[in-house]
Amino acid sequence: MSTTEATPHADIKFRIATIDDLSAIFHLGERLFTSQESSNLYRTWDEYEVTHLFNSEPEYMWVACMDEQVIGFLLGSIIEKRYTAWNYGHLLWLGVDPAFAGQGIGARLFDRYRDLVEAAGVRMLMVDTQADNDKAIRFFRSKGFANPIDHIYMTLNLETQSR
Ligand SMILES: CC(C)(COP(=O)(O)OP(=O)(O)OC[C@H]1O[C@@H](n2cnc3c(N)ncnc32)[C@H](O)[C@@H]1OP(=O)(O)O)[C@@H](O)C(=O)NCCC(=O)NCCS
Repeated sequence: MSTTEATPHADIKFRIATIDDLSAIFHLGERLFTSQESSNLYRTWDEYEVTHLFNSEPEYMWVACMDEQVIGFLLGSIIEKRYTAWNYGHLLWLGVDPAFAGQGIGARLFDRYRDLVEAAGVRMLMVDTQADNDKAIRFFRSKGFANPIDHIYMTLNLETQSR
């Protein structure tokens, strides 16, 4: 697969991220994963997440660019399960600049990730998001994800809670 490709309808290019993209990915994520929109994503999105994934699995870090400006990103990984034939693809982060929403950019990023992990032997993809993130849930359903499993996420505020 080519690592750079232009869409026919616009000057949007999709390519594997380079070190020069990390800052733009991080800052776009800061705009998307806000405490108001999704407290869980807000808590876990930081510079370390971006640099760690770039160091560990750079082949699954993709960006969508317009005029060399990052307008979307996907950060994924592969989980290899020892002693089984099952490898899982874990789509960790997906974000598209709201100014470019609804133009198929998220879908194209996802399709590239899917092709790559399928070629690497992945048999199942996983994704998780907050139950009230309707946009993301609709997006993932449109890409074929199904069978949502309830997963309770709990927090304990150590400042306000006494023993
Ligand atoms: C979820 C997200 C990545 C979608 O990106 P996008 O580029 O706007 O999505 P696409 O244009 O590729 O849409 C693909 C499909 O998703 C669904 N979809 C996307 N946005 C939608 C919306 N606002 N309302 C309804 N359906 C939507 C549609 O089914 C669409 O298919 P269609 O165009 O054939 O109708 C983007 O909204 C985003 O960055 N959200 C904030 C970050 C986030 O929550 N990420 C996911 C968890 S990490």
